[in-house]
Amino acid sequence: MTDIQSAIQDASTKLTASSDSAWLDAEVILCHVLDRPRSHLRAWPEKQLSEQQLSLFSTLIEQRQQGTPVAYLVGSKEFWSRDFQVNPGVLIPRPDTELLIELSLNFLSNKTNTHIIDLGTGSGIIAVTLAAERPDIKVTASDRSLQALEIAKLNSKTHHTDSVQFIHSSWFIDIPACQYDLVISNPPYIDCHDIHLSQGDVRFEPKSALIADETGLKDIKEIANHARDYLTHNGALLIEHGYDQQDSVQAIFKSFDYNNIKTHHDLSGNPRVTTAQWNVE
Ligand SMILES: C[S@@+](CC[C@H](N)C(=O)[O-])C[C@H]1O[C@@H](n2cnc3c(N)ncnc32)[C@H](O)[C@@H]1O
Repeated sequence: MTDIQSAIQDASTKLTASSDSAWLDAEVILCHVLDRPRSHLRAWPEKQLSEQQLSLFSTLIEQRQQGTPVAYLVGSKEFWSRDFQVNPGVLIPRPDTELLIELSLNFLSNKTNTHIIDLGTGSGIIAVTLAAERPDIKVTASDRSLQALEIAKLNSKTHHTDSVQFIHSSWFIDIPACQYDLVISNPPYIDCHDIHLSQGDVRFEPKSALIADETGLKDIKEIANHARDYLTHNGALLIEHGYDQQDSVQAIFKSFDYNNIKTHHDLSGNPRVTTAQWNVE
């Protein structure tokens, strides 16, 4: 027999070598097994686990030892204070991407009758969060991956943002002609030789969500180029990129005649989102 406290202690010891958040990982995985919040672990440390619970917990801890991200083991990840369902077919939501939400909400403040599109929606975090925060706006979301669209639709349902329209498309190819006030994207932007691809959680995420040709810039170029045909006058383009891509992304936006080009920093002080406006007649 094992109680909650000892199960966490044992699991955390096992995970110390492979994870720098061993105790937290153990707690989150146990909460998933017990289907209880973390407060339950504090309230009932002496509560015994059933054989079935212990067996499932051990299996998941072994998978975590092999490197499988906690989000894939428990099937969800929090973003902008909401839980999003994830699986190995989609990128795990990152706190960095909350900067895109903050900037989008700023662009949308005091505006009505707006229509926005989230390109490469993955688990749907950007489209669903914006639709939930601003139920008055029209939101379209697209992805080339059908698996991602399936998860994004589930998340949209869970968060009651059923009005989000999902389109299967490679960037703008199958997006019908339309005028968007915002084009938002967190596209793949990692160079295929980047050493981070062989480290941590990233090893388990879909390469199609991470890697882009031309030193990580090909998808950003394509989006910036074609967004010009879809943006309203003074509409904005917001793109997340790597911490070292600020100059390249600004140069891409300039080469396509965007105005008001600005790069914004995330909470760690890294330049991570570049925005621009389309007001060329
Ligand atoms: C970095 S992930 C971002 C996912 C999600 N928006 C987020 O922020 O967590 C990039 C997404 O772009 C999608 N993607 C990659 N190439 C694409 C393409 N050519 N057209 C549309 N989507 C694409 C991937 O399937 C993936 O879901």
